[in-house]
Amino acid sequence: MEPHAAASLREPSARAAALRESLHRHAEAYYVFDEPQIPDAEYDKLFQELQAIEAEHPELCTADSPTQRVIGKVLPGFRPVRHVVPMLSIRTETDTEPSGAATFDARIRRELELTEGDPPIEYVGELKFDGLAINLRYERGVLVQAATRGDGETGEDVTQNIRTVRQIPLRLHWPPRAGKGTRAAAGAAPYGAPAVLEVRGELYMRRDQFEALNERQRAWIAAGDKREKTFVNPRNAAAGAVRQLDPAIAARRPLSFFAYGLGAVEGWEIPATQSALLDALAAMGVPVSRDHAVVQGAEGLAAFHRTIGAKRDSLPFDIDGVVYKVDSRALQQRLGFVSREPRWAVAHKYPAQEQLTRVRDIDVQVGRTGKLTPVAKLEPVFVGGTTVSNATLHNEDEVRRKDVRIGDTVIVRRAGDVIPEVVGVVVEQRPADAGEPFDLYKRLGGKCPICGSAITREEGEVDWRCSGGLFCPAQRKQAILHFAQRRALDIGGLGEKLVDQLVDTGAIRTLPDFFKLGPAELTALERYGEKSAANLLESLEQSKSTTLARFLYGLGIRHVGETTAKDLANHFGSIDRVIEARLEQLLEAPDVGPVVAQSIRTFFEQRHNREVVEQLRSAGVTWQEGPGSAASLAPRPFAGKTFVLTGTLPKLSRDEAKEMIESVGGKVSGSVSKKTDYVVAGSEAGSKLAKAQELGTTVLDEAGLLGLLSNP
Ligand code: IVH
Repeated sequence: MEPHAAASLREPSARAAALRESLHRHAEAYYVFDEPQIPDAEYDKLFQELQAIEAEHPELCTADSPTQRVIGKVLPGFRPVRHVVPMLSIRTETDTEPSGAATFDARIRRELELTEGDPPIEYVGELKFDGLAINLRYERGVLVQAATRGDGETGEDVTQNIRTVRQIPLRLHWPPRAGKGTRAAAGAAPYGAPAVLEVRGELYMRRDQFEALNERQRAWIAAGDKREKTFVNPRNAAAGAVRQLDPAIAARRPLSFFAYGLGAVEGWEIPATQSALLDALAAMGVPVSRDHAVVQGAEGLAAFHRTIGAKRDSLPFDIDGVVYKVDSRALQQRLGFVSREPRWAVAHKYPAQEQLTRVRDIDVQVGRTGKLTPVAKLEPVFVGGTTVSNATLHNEDEVRRKDVRIGDTVIVRRAGDVIPEVVGVVVEQRPADAGEPFDLYKRLGGKCPICGSAITREEGEVDWRCSGGLFCPAQRKQAILHFAQRRALDIGGLGEKLVDQLVDTGAIRTLPDFFKLGPAELTALERYGEKSAANLLESLEQSKSTTLARFLYGLGIRHVGETTAKDLANHFGSIDRVIEARLEQLLEAPDVGPVVAQSIRTFFEQRHNREVVEQLRSAGVTWQEGPGSAASLAPRPFAGKTFVLTGTLPKLSRDEAKEMIESVGGKVSGSVSKKTDYVVAGSEAGSKLAKAQELGTTVLDEAGLLGLLSNP
């Protein structure tokens, strides 16, 4: 129940206390437990009421008042703070997995003089957060000081900035929550909270918030603010935010926190295990990562390392490894410390996802649609588990924004299977003879590096393109592969290497040249025997009989994907009608907007593209025409019906099922809605099936689908 408003008139101190309590609980529910209980506007009202009371009665303002999250004054510098208990670091196990866990476990067992017959040791696996360590000092449950690690003995007092971090409780939840859902009586001050409880953990910035921050920073810079800069990674941004002397700026840099240990403690019995400690801290409203686990022995640790490794890229924040800790405090005490590191904990890293290296050159690559992509040629560097010597720079604006120049030292990132990218420049290390700011047009002299055609950049587009179309060998190779792929003309046995050779030897210049190939041209190629030649000629022959939709898709018209190609085929029914269609007519086709329509027009306005179509037809490429020719001229009993496929079907592949449905006029959509007529569910069908059941949509299995399609 909310405290009664009228009370404030009579007793401001009681009202202020009640408001503090209420605001505190709501903020905690919102930021710590993710269970908001009142609308934001309601929270703001209570907050403003408390502010008003405190303004009138400054003596009523307490250190833990939620109003104190507001921003303080600019500081001349940070006061040093001597840590009561030094802030240690942990050893990094350099052995790679799985031996890293085994080495650690073996060492612990040796230290504890265990033999093979003894049971496995219990460990906690935790994430190794990639941020900065911070010590939060709570006295009687109230946050009184926050300090950085510094040299481990003395850190800096960053209390003012830490107060603006919403996730960090200004007051501990006391008594601790017994479990999720239980709440302490309203109005309970943290009586009985420990005299001193120093919580240690990592301050970090989530990746999405880091991106958003850099976006804002770029806007400041673009607006001419010389004091601002972008950050190379979340850790760097978090460290900058904490040590920001102007708390107004610090407050705009969104930080998060995870606890993993303790500093000085008075008046509290520390739990007997690390895992129980994490639970206890969570129950006090301190953020603790859910990704920790109690495991048995070396194998348990190695499995934890694998599990987290697989999940690393999907975490919303950066980690650089995992930490293994002996769970029992009693054992931890027996193990003790070596120099400044505990014997009972070790960090086990993953391959770094970021490395420094030098830019040797900036190249420009030409894609299938003529898109020109700047690529940094790097001094080879081992990052994210492989050696990287090229990294994409995306487009000209991106290079300019990051101001990457030849000779620069840059940070290269490779996370998971994502293509390596240059995330930023270490400007301090720019050599005197570094290149000029990048200018794609100047760099290429206005010409495509492959075919010499003019390059253009349309208004409102980020990419430069080669205007050479299929005259450009780079585009030709890509276009040929596109034309030959399974979803287009489906020419089996045609790989990238073969296409390279065919284009480089001049055997193929345009798509119709495919069908002029004979055994002589093919066997003349390096390492190409008669048997392979015969096979390829056979699949070329087969590919000639196709569908209008595949043909349209295979032409590689910009913005015309498979679905659009099918829609166009169904709508127009013949290639000539597509070629001749005016913009307004194109816009009448389903799902064709102005950009797609214009792109189709532009493509067919070029005489050589029309010639390509003509030559392909005379080479014998055929398809059935007529309305609905995406599939065939067969009756289309399921025209207008929408199907959704989910899960794995026993016999049919997704593509096969889709093709069958479309061959009778049905449409396959990706998500279930009221418009869905049938949901075809295989094994491990998930949310789509649930949605279908909720909406009462007809659900079929594979047999049901086959039955339906054969007996409309
Ligand atoms: S425990 C006595 N646990 O790694 C052990 N540290 O060199 C003290 N770190 O600066 C550290 N995640 O900031 C511990 N789950 C975790 C951690 C962690 C990140 C950082 C910490 C410290 C460094 C250790």
